[in-house]
Amino acid sequence: MPAKSTMPDTLTTPPAADATAAAIRHQTIVVLDFGAQYSMLIARRIRELNIFCELLPWDTPRERIEAMDLHGIILSGGPNSVYEPDAPQAPAWVFDSGAPVLGICYGMQLFAYQLGGHVAPGAEREYGPASVTRTLDSPLLAGLPNDFDVWMSHGDRIETLPPGFQSIARSGNSPVAVMADVERGYYGLQFHPEVVHTPRGKEILRNFAITVCRCDGSWTAGNFIDETVDAIRAQVGAGKVICGLSGGVDSAVAAALVHRAIGDQLTCIFVDNGLLRAGEAEEVVEAFTRNMKMHLVHIEAEEEFLAALAEVTNPETKRVRIGNTFVRLFEREARRIEDARFLCQGTVYPDVIESASAGRGSAKIKTHHNVGGLPPDMKMELVEPLRLLFKDEVRRIGEALGLPEEMVWRHPFPGPGLAIRVMGDVTRERLDMLRGADLIVMQEVRNAGLYRDLWQSFAVLTDTKTVGVMGDFRTYGYAVAIRAVVADDAMTADWARLPHELLGRMSNRIVNEVHGINRVVYDITSKPPGTIEWE
Ligand code: XMP
Repeated sequence: MPAKSTMPDTLTTPPAADATAAAIRHQTIVVLDFGAQYSMLIARRIRELNIFCELLPWDTPRERIEAMDLHGIILSGGPNSVYEPDAPQAPAWVFDSGAPVLGICYGMQLFAYQLGGHVAPGAEREYGPASVTRTLDSPLLAGLPNDFDVWMSHGDRIETLPPGFQSIARSGNSPVAVMADVERGYYGLQFHPEVVHTPRGKEILRNFAITVCRCDGSWTAGNFIDETVDAIRAQVGAGKVICGLSGGVDSAVAAALVHRAIGDQLTCIFVDNGLLRAGEAEEVVEAFTRNMKMHLVHIEAEEEFLAALAEVTNPETKRVRIGNTFVRLFEREARRIEDARFLCQGTVYPDVIESASAGRGSAKIKTHHNVGGLPPDMKMELVEPLRLLFKDEVRRIGEALGLPEEMVWRHPFPGPGLAIRVMGDVTRERLDMLRGADLIVMQEVRNAGLYRDLWQSFAVLTDTKTVGVMGDFRTYGYAVAIRAVVADDAMTADWARLPHELLGRMSNRIVNEVHGINRVVYDITSKPPGTIEWE
């Protein structure tokens, strides 16, 4: 989950969380999620065309889509076989909405299963790269070459096409790689257009969204800002809003949007927990008070946080203590702001999707935002202007709002801060040691021009001491680990193949410049099985 305000998600608030989002009405394509690994990616690809797209669970009720300007529906892939008992099916509103529908893999089989065709297990599974040949012209494949490469992943095949459909492309193994009922705007793909291994996939999605669904691609950053500003004004009226700033991009952009909408009705609270990276607290204060002229309450609370963390080494206890301390301080400050009825949060779309699918059997790996909670008597309505956006979209909005570049492109940073990057005891001395090493990592990554290519890069202070030699002296100091990962989102990540020269420079500088550290190692674990943070 991307870093954002350290505000916990489970605030005791009335359930009006969707108020800002609901007020936005735009041409929409809905992706119904049948459990495929890549569903979120489909939504991202459509959004890249400047078309608003929502990812919803497959059993979404009709009422949820009634208020939308629905232009098209995409049925995602999924792990099931359509003919299995209890396999999920497309709800009735999909086929009587009159909207064009694109079925991908499982979604394509659903057409055949629900509209009168026949699906059966294939003789062999088709998985991985394949070549597809067009057999008939159609709007979906317009502009594509006769043969193109795709990424297949299916075990079932369509034996009998449903009435009204024709096969418009075939693959080596299957006579129906793409099927169409052009009249109704129904299309099925046996392969995944959303993944990079289908190089022409974007064109197929564009043909569907723009030619078939007649979306005009007008969902731009400027539009989003205008509509959201109107929605915030409508929700808040003359009310007062408070917002917790963390230094991360999400809470910063959320605050900037709300500030644009209602100016001085917004007060930001920045709880400086003493667990931030070098220079970050100063940057937040500078950006918001001097540059944006926002009303900012700056609470310097390092001592309280360090006291709460004294002698705590267990990662979960650290997280919970930090969460509780934050809530206590935030609440104390918030209560001083008379009649504040609204709380602005930088919740982003992956958080929303994740909580929609939470409770479906996934194990808790780490306590993220779900620690603590405001006391029940503190009822505030949420303003969450980013709850429909992916991280890269949040960054684009931040740029359009004129936030400083370093803030907009800052790597995600966890709410509990450096406390979960200092293994073992969290003391000021050890935090300073980590800050010194971390600053060097950051500087070197920036100098190498790699900052934007990495999802995150940082140092971890281990609690292992090792023996070294400096000049003629024996040293006995801590080992630091460098962590750098590439990722599209934080659900999975790979360790970055940083150049050896760069790693060498970091190691030299850290050992020479940071007192108390005499060894540097590089973390070469992907996620899974590792997580990005060490605790
Ligand atoms: P993990 O370590 O679970 O981290 O692979 C995934 C992403 O989430 C960030 N992270 C957090 N963000 N509060 C946050 O706001 C947290 O408690 C927290 N813990 C981890 C982490 O930096 C990475 O981007």
